[in-house]
Amino acid sequence: MLGDRRGMVDFAGCAAAEGQGETIRDLYGALAARWIAAGAPRHLALIPSSDEALIDPWLRLAFGVQFVWAVRETAAMKPVEAGVRIRPGTPNDLELVAKLDRSLHEHQAGPPSFSGLTIASDEEFRADWSDLWDDPDIYTHFVAERAGMPVGHVVLYRRPTGDLRVPNDNIDLSHAATLPAARRSGVSLALMGHALTWAHEHGFRSMTTDWRSVNLLSSRHWPRRGFRPTFYRLYRALP
Ligand SMILES: CC(C)(COP(=O)(O)OP(=O)(O)OC[C@H]1O[C@@H](n2cnc3c(N)ncnc32)[C@H](O)[C@@H]1OP(=O)(O)O)[C@@H](O)C(=O)NCCC(=O)NCCS
Repeated sequence: MLGDRRGMVDFAGCAAAEGQGETIRDLYGALAARWIAAGAPRHLALIPSSDEALIDPWLRLAFGVQFVWAVRETAAMKPVEAGVRIRPGTPNDLELVAKLDRSLHEHQAGPPSFSGLTIASDEEFRADWSDLWDDPDIYTHFVAERAGMPVGHVVLYRRPTGDLRVPNDNIDLSHAATLPAARRSGVSLALMGHALTWAHEHGFRSMTTDWRSVNLLSSRHWPRRGFRPTFYRLYRALP
């Protein structure tokens, strides 16, 4: 059980021999009874995306895909011609980063995500991001500029390994956004080309990322950039 009225089957928490889908449904029935009794009406299950036979019983329990974890190999990419210059981020970019994170939250507050989250104040966004540049061994930040104005960024994170989600020699694409007025003009293509090449040259073999499946922008963008799902977070909310 998680603290916020959610019950979760974590990574590697669900496995079954072939043909045992009905056993999964029985097990969920028993688990759900305990969760409901404990006041947790929101249920999550993290299931390998490659295992259709394991996903099927959950779909027949009224679960749907809410969130996707994915991975791709790093590579030396051809530079993308999008009229942008990519440079390392600095603490002077705090205002930009706060604005970009706000744009992600605003996007996800709208249809069809309806995140329902209260959007933080500018001050709170700035406070959240103020330590991004403190330890270059944890985060690597790239900013795209067009005509001298910053228009987008990517944040790479050396996410600790140790679970099924994060391979060895991996770096995580933990935040990416383009200012709304500059979207669909190649800013992210240029940033991702740069980030994948940088990661490749620095010995990272793979890049992980994740997205909400109801985020129509990211859920279309990352698969087209070569990211392949590894795990789905399946979700069911009881009234
Ligand atoms: C997801 C996001 C970062 C993509 O950034 P972007 O800068 O708009 O992406 P690009 O312009 O590089 O690429 C978008 C599409 O436009 C296309 N494109 C690029 N240059 C183009 C041009 N000059 N004319 C027309 N299309 C173009 C790309 O080929 C791509 O199409 P494809 O996905 O079908 O291959 C952006 O939509 C965003 O900020 N979304 C809100 C925040 C968010 O969801 N972040 C991700 C959280 S997981």
